[in-house]
Amino acid sequence: DKGNHRHFMEKEIHEQAEVVSHTLSNYIDFAEGKVRLDTGQLDFANLDRLAMSACGTAYYAGLIGKYWFERFARLPVEIDVASEFRYREMPLTGRMAAMFISQSGETADTLASLRYCRDHSLPIGAVVNVRESTIARESDAVFPTLAGPEIGVASTKAFTCQLSVLAALSMIAGRERGTLSPEDESVMVQALVEAPRLFNEVIRDIEPQIETLSRELARFKDVLYLGRGTNFPLALEGALKLKEISYIHAEGYAAGELKHGPIALIDENMPVIVIAPHDRHFEKTMSNMQEVAARGGQIILITDEKGAEAAPLETMATITLPVVHEIVAPILHALPVQLVAYHTAVFMGTDVDQPRNLAKSVTVE
Ligand code: F6R
Repeated sequence: DKGNHRHFMEKEIHEQAEVVSHTLSNYIDFAEGKVRLDTGQLDFANLDRLAMSACGTAYYAGLIGKYWFERFARLPVEIDVASEFRYREMPLTGRMAAMFISQSGETADTLASLRYCRDHSLPIGAVVNVRESTIARESDAVFPTLAGPEIGVASTKAFTCQLSVLAALSMIAGRERGTLSPEDESVMVQALVEAPRLFNEVIRDIEPQIETLSRELARFKDVLYLGRGTNFPLALEGALKLKEISYIHAEGYAAGELKHGPIALIDENMPVIVIAPHDRHFEKTMSNMQEVAARGGQIILITDEKGAEAAPLETMATITLPVVHEIVAPILHALPVQLVAYHTAVFMGTDVDQPRNLAKSVTVE
């Protein structure tokens, strides 16, 4: 049931305050200001390495998780798309565990990667949305996302719920490894608790602007997304979402890679969506943005209030979000990324919930 919405995707974007809050409450003790979760056989304190793998949007969630595990828990993470992981014969030596991320819990390549790790006796954790799925059944520790059924083929609410679970996991790993102080943990918990309340406000504030912008975007054949740090996987996710539902060609790049190739593409026909809240990468990303502007590229900046103030030049549009803690930023910034793709596709008249050639669950390789 779509309720008042035109598409399941629209409904699922708008549901995120509720499902992210529901998911977080499964992993966080709000009263205590602490993460509360049973990591089962994943003994984070005694790991040397974590191997992660997933496909598509779930892979991008994992990439953001990698930044968090390495930063907050000082735990090195290897991450691959599952179709590569399963065949690359990674040496699984030392004290390792594996983590798989999947909305459906049935994706063939992700499941095959899981079985490879199981055959090598690694402890296995899974972040899954469908509790009865094969991946959930075959894992040692299941960390459910409580997103509810996701019907739109393009993943939205499952992604932000995956990020919420990975945030909690990286924090518990940080606590267990002694790299995250109780004070920092409680600041992060507070930030996460307050996040879902912001979602509805943010959507209300930015959606009309994004609808207008999408009309303009629909004129273009190519779009480039740039970001640094955790905004890099968000750039990849933005490009994936736009191409899969609007069929506009889009690419996501780490902003620092601009000079190493994609800058050759920049002209007035190639809008560039820069995802850059005012974090520790902001200045660097702004200088990339100036390089784009100097070549006639049109810029759409997704940032926060501080970033909007500090941005050094005129843009085609600036989408401004509230300032939040870095653990919340990728979850919040996913909203404009999803809305841009959604409204552009609606404007172009494509079948948003059932894009051509795609299936919701990819059970063959
Ligand atoms: C993109 C999308 C896909 C899935 C991918 C993995 O919007 O939905 O890229 O993320 O097929 O699916 P799951 O998470 O079910 O393993």
